[in-house]
Amino acid sequence: MNYIGSKQSLTPFIIQSLQNSFGSLKKMRFCDLFAGTGAVSCAVGFTCKELVANDVEYFSALWLHQRLCGIENYKDWFEKIDGSKFGFVSEHFSTLGAMKRCYFSAQNALKIDGIRSNIEKLKPKISPKLYKALLVSLIDGADRVANVASVYGSYLKNFKFTATQKLRLKECPSCQFTHTKVFNKEGLKLLKEIEGDILYLDPPYNHRQYGLNYHVLNAIARGYVNAPKGKSGLDGYYRSRWCQRQHVKKELVDTVKMANFRYVALSYNSEGLLSPKDIQKLLEPFGHYDRLQTTHPRLRTQKKSPKKEVLEYLHLLELT
Ligand SMILES: C[S@@+](CC[C@H](N)C(=O)[O-])C[C@H]1O[C@@H](n2cnc3c(N)ncnc32)[C@H](O)[C@@H]1O
Repeated sequence: MNYIGSKQSLTPFIIQSLQNSFGSLKKMRFCDLFAGTGAVSCAVGFTCKELVANDVEYFSALWLHQRLCGIENYKDWFEKIDGSKFGFVSEHFSTLGAMKRCYFSAQNALKIDGIRSNIEKLKPKISPKLYKALLVSLIDGADRVANVASVYGSYLKNFKFTATQKLRLKECPSCQFTHTKVFNKEGLKLLKEIEGDILYLDPPYNHRQYGLNYHVLNAIARGYVNAPKGKSGLDGYYRSRWCQRQHVKKELVDTVKMANFRYVALSYNSEGLLSPKDIQKLLEPFGHYDRLQTTHPRLRTQKKSPKKEVLEYLHLLELT
């Protein structure tokens, strides 16, 4: 998935930096509090002793579950869940609905609704792992034929080529870790319940709320929408304080205060709400502080947006 802020290509830099600064990860209990697609969790999970991955967005928590500790070889089920029917995606996110929101072609919207409904019918008869794996395959399939530039804040006026293709389900691979727990909680709430060695933070950097940018995937994951409004069909979504200039400093300080961990590592880029100096000033009172950096290509959300590199910082803190 083309996910805003994904650290997929940065994992070698992150792992190397964590090892150089905090030592071998082998005996470490690692927590990825804002895990998104699980790129960092997946890479660290092969080395660390215990892993906790969390995200406040429901579709992301499902994704994390399948990617980190889910199942494989479940494609025989795709035939059993295949279907086509009018439902909430057809009504609210396709041209078949009154608002004519073009997120999906009519054919794909009907298919998403049919498959979603069949997965729910099967739920009492199948394992929770299989239920999640099937939902993740549907979310992934829907995302590949969605008629959006990259995120779901709005849809494209005309159908792009990939959105005219037929939705196909694919197996989503899993690391099949047995030392991993996945949560779907607000970061600060989860920190009250857990402890460990390394707390890795990769929060949103700017005002772009994930709940808004991926609201359609959340709706498919939940199986319903709450009275979507307006042209883009947004329903109520979670508003992270990390995306709000007036709250972000307090959110960072509260997170570090709440951390029952030995080390904290924070990923943040050069275009975020907080400057590297802001972060240094906020973190230094808590222990020994260091900062590393590398360059990273910028995610282009529109063809017109300039392609350039941003600086990716890793702020490292040994709590005292
Ligand atoms: C920069 S992305 C993480 C990307 C991830 N490292 C990856 O490689 O895919 C930030 C994530 O934080 C989540 N998020 C935002 N506010 C949160 C909060 N208060 N608690 C937990 N997760 C939150 C978002 O849903 C999003 O998935």
